[in-house]
Amino acid sequence: MASRLASALLLGVLIVSSAVPRARGQAASAPGPAPAAPKTITAILSKAGQFTKFIQLLQSTREAEQITNQLKGKSSSGGLTVFAPPDSAFSALPKGTLNSLSDQQKTSLVQFHVVSAALGAAQLETVSNPLRTQAGDTGRGKYPLNLTADGTNVNVSTGVVNATLDGTPLYAGDRLVVYQVSKVLLPWALYGPPVPAPAPAPAESKKKKKATPDAVADAPAAETAAGTTTTASAATRARGGVGAAVASSCVAVAAVAALWWAI
Ligand SMILES: *[C@@H]1O[C@H](CO)[C@@H](O)[C@H](O)[C@H]1NC(C)=O
Ligand SMILES: *[C@@H]1O[C@H](CO)[C@@H](O)[C@H](O)[C@H]1NC(C)=O
Ligand SMILES: *[C@@H]1O[C@H](CO)[C@@H](O)[C@H](O)[C@H]1NC(C)=O
Repeated sequence: MASRLASALLLGVLIVSSAVPRARGQAASAPGPAPAAPKTITAILSKAGQFTKFIQLLQSTREAEQITNQLKGKSSSGGLTVFAPPDSAFSALPKGTLNSLSDQQKTSLVQFHVVSAALGAAQLETVSNPLRTQAGDTGRGKYPLNLTADGTNVNVSTGVVNATLDGTPLYAGDRLVVYQVSKVLLPWALYGPPVPAPAPAPAESKKKKKATPDAVADAPAAETAAGTTTTASAATRARGGVGAAVASSCVAVAAVAALWWAI
């Protein structure tokens, strides 16, 4: 009787102990029944590749988090559209173009690439200009963004730069659509020449003096060998940083996995 109970217990222990490692093995090798589509903007852009610099900006300004929260919240039931410039667009900027921005201005720059509506390719053709972005005010000298489409191309103009949108989204979910845009969308408010204000606004005009319209107007000329080399090496360093971060997180994952198996 006692020995039968003991062997039943032993059998139970054996079943449990053999089942546990099998479950762990499954969790480690199989990704699960339905591999979920990438949901965060950073996951989408990382997967697409070549968006290192924009991802960095999304993270440093905490806009990546904002976007994730907005997509979760009911307030943005219309969804979001993100115009993502690739690393080559950042490399093409004159040196120091972004360094001169304050944190608040960097946030506005990133928000200028985000629209509070999930715009499918067909909807891009029919938006009314100026299109309102999350940077806000679309007025003259502020954050206007115009889209013009002819069925094949979608041109985007900020008044400072003209860019084109890749009409096929990088990602198109129900509530989030991501397009690649050929250039960093430099908003007029930060890079355009000051517009004459209807009424005197001393605080505004002081701020405007800090803008560098000349540097931006010369953008194509700035793609000289020297300029390209400096910005490219900056981009390379940035990529190195991300690579190191990825490598160290791989080490961390490996360490956790080793611990897991050692238990
Ligand atoms: C877009 O811009 C290109 C050149 O920059 C031009 O040839 C084309 O006609 C423009 N298309 C639209 C729809 O504005
Ligand atoms: C955008 O379009 C509006 C109306 O069509 C026009 O008044 C404005 O000058 C345009 N702005 C830019 C930056 O292209
Ligand atoms: C953008 O395109 C418009 C219309 O094609 C042109 O008038 C303007 O000079 C261009 N702006 C820049 C900064 O290239």
